[in-house]
Amino acid sequence: MSTPAARAAWRVAPGGTIAGSFTVPGDKSISHRALMLGALAEGDTHISGFLDGEDCLATARALGSLGVHIERPAPNEVIVHGAGMHGLVAAAAPLDMGNAGTAMRLMTGVLAPQRFDSTLVGDESLMRRPMERVVVPLQMMGAHIQTHEGRPPVQIRGTPQLRAIHYSLPVASAQVKSAVLLAGLYAAGITRVTEPAPSRDHTERMLGAFGASLRREGRSIAIDGGVPLSAARVAVPADFSSAAFFIVAACLAAERPLLLTNIGVNPTRTGLLELLRRMGADIRVHEHGVAGPDAEPAADIEVRRSLLRGITVPESLVPLSIDEFPVFFVAAACAQGETLVRGALELRVKESDRLAAVAAGLETLGVEHQLLTDGLWIRGAESLAGGTVDSRGDHRIAMAFAIAALRARAPLQVLDVANVATSFPGFAALARAAGLGLAAA
Ligand code: S3P
Repeated sequence: MSTPAARAAWRVAPGGTIAGSFTVPGDKSISHRALMLGALAEGDTHISGFLDGEDCLATARALGSLGVHIERPAPNEVIVHGAGMHGLVAAAAPLDMGNAGTAMRLMTGVLAPQRFDSTLVGDESLMRRPMERVVVPLQMMGAHIQTHEGRPPVQIRGTPQLRAIHYSLPVASAQVKSAVLLAGLYAAGITRVTEPAPSRDHTERMLGAFGASLRREGRSIAIDGGVPLSAARVAVPADFSSAAFFIVAACLAAERPLLLTNIGVNPTRTGLLELLRRMGADIRVHEHGVAGPDAEPAADIEVRRSLLRGITVPESLVPLSIDEFPVFFVAAACAQGETLVRGALELRVKESDRLAAVAAGLETLGVEHQLLTDGLWIRGAESLAGGTVDSRGDHRIAMAFAIAALRARAPLQVLDVANVATSFPGFAALARAAGLGLAAA
């Protein structure tokens, strides 16, 4: 393993302005799901706009090890030759899911009902993340799964006859919901999942598009077991979570309106737009027409520079903006007045403890803040100090602090940035083209 000093880093010049019209890479959540459902379907699934990032490539490699034939005719295009619900075969070695929590949790749901055993492992960060949350409901369905004190490796003894259950999720988690629904495809009877609050619904939409028998009943989703999936065409929109860095950058420093094109605007993902608008941001969303209720909506998003004011974030918006908090906190650090986020305990178990990582970065930047058990309080500053911020190997922490340089008085070093390639390959080049003074350190 490389020492921290040898790890990739950025040096970002202070200040600058943002401008341009561009898109960002494809949606990570949707790309993972398209691969998995394509693998379980009958026929060939054609995916366009696929995210060619390390996380989704880990899913593709794992499915390849399980006997699925996957073609890559172009960088962002994939053809998955479906193996069918019962066509996966045992992998010869443990499946390495890299940094991808989504891949590990959803694949646990896919692999629990198979006729063979599997083991899932990951990188240093993933090996520390909680898997109990998916194991508990799957065990209620009759699955045989072992972890190491709730963490990977995840060892699955395949159990073809799972029971359908009704599971009430203790926390709003799309990954847990998805793992149960995927296992429910194989269970005898109707599997029902109830969420405490809405979380991203890509799995439900895509299962519908692949012909699963699925119904939404208020906060519950019911799926009939034993219904085969049929291949589909999946057009993946650009990832809202990647666009978020440039949305905040433009709020802070747009020279002219910034236009981000073909961005996924599924309402279970766009809580950040509501938060920034409440802070005073001028953001206009030009929606494209959608093909049907299961299609993923996309839009062009126009952002102008605005004076931001601090807010108290309603807890109901936390699951709808969960991955955007690192960059939201940067917006709060540059806003006038105080911002308070509570009810965001989940941020402590992402790729890093994001509350702690952001608090440490804000300390370096001289921003008054208080780290709370389940959130952060921040008093915005006129300008930020420069200095060295450790991303802790977390892609979104790295990109968020690169954006903070727009309001810094001195250069900012961001350490340990290689994992940006998990979700946003090409971020550094795009950030430079948009106006950020970012260079490899
Ligand atoms: C994801 C769900 C969210 C999110 C993650 C991707 C998904 O995690 O933070 O980046 O694709 O289902 P949780 O399910 O843990 O909330």
